[in-house]
Amino acid sequence: MCVAYPGRGIGLKRYVIAVTGVSGAAYGLRLVEQLLEVGEVTLIFTKTGAEVTAYELGLVVPAEGAKEAVLRYLELPADLPLRVAAEDDLFDAVASGSSRFDAVVVAPASMGFIGSLASGLASGLAERTADVALKERRTLVVVPRETPLNLIHLRNLTTLAEAGAVVAPAMPAFYQRPTSVDDMVNFVVGKVLDLLAVEHELYPRWRS
Ligand SMILES: Cc1cc2nc3c(=O)[nH]c(=O)nc-3n(C[C@H](O)[C@H](O)[C@H](O)COP(=O)(O)O)c2cc1C
Repeated sequence: MCVAYPGRGIGLKRYVIAVTGVSGAAYGLRLVEQLLEVGEVTLIFTKTGAEVTAYELGLVVPAEGAKEAVLRYLELPADLPLRVAAEDDLFDAVASGSSRFDAVVVAPASMGFIGSLASGLASGLAERTADVALKERRTLVVVPRETPLNLIHLRNLTTLAEAGAVVAPAMPAFYQRPTSVDDMVNFVVGKVLDLLAVEHELYPRWRS
């Protein structure tokens, strides 16, 4: 039996997406949209992550009906395998190494989150789940968004890379000649999907 989705079969990939309090909530939401095409998603907003999501995207995530609100925002069917887990619920399934999720993506990731994760604090559910991915040697992708970076940021990112995380900064490219914000979001999200070995057509590949 699947821990996060009782009654569902084994086979589908299981992803955890954490949205922290950083400019660029659109990255996390686009990722959820894409991953729901190929698997099951547990979505966690940090407190500031929920606030920035409301500010930047106009998506208010209520305590009750969070899944419905997110799927409505994404204009997706209400029965897709999305779960929105509460950041303060350390009793949630994905807080445990026994939970069978395949990969965690923190997108976008704040420098505060990265520092805390690099220190092993595991203080909220998003951080604990990322910590579990590292200790269980599962895929962890962090998508930091900050500029410029100070030495503390750089050292913390190095610590995460040394511990096994993939650091994939939110750095859109221009060689594909983006014409919209959507194109730029798609490039960053497409790079994350590449890391997860998920097929997509979010950006044109160089000379292919
Ligand atoms: C509108 C807004 C935008 C922010 N953008 C960034 C950002 O781009 N990068 C960053 O590292 N922190 C950013 N912050 C600061 C973080 O939200 C802050 O460090 C917070 O403690 C992070 O908490 P969390 O990781 O639990 O969400 C931003 C805050 C606000 C309110």
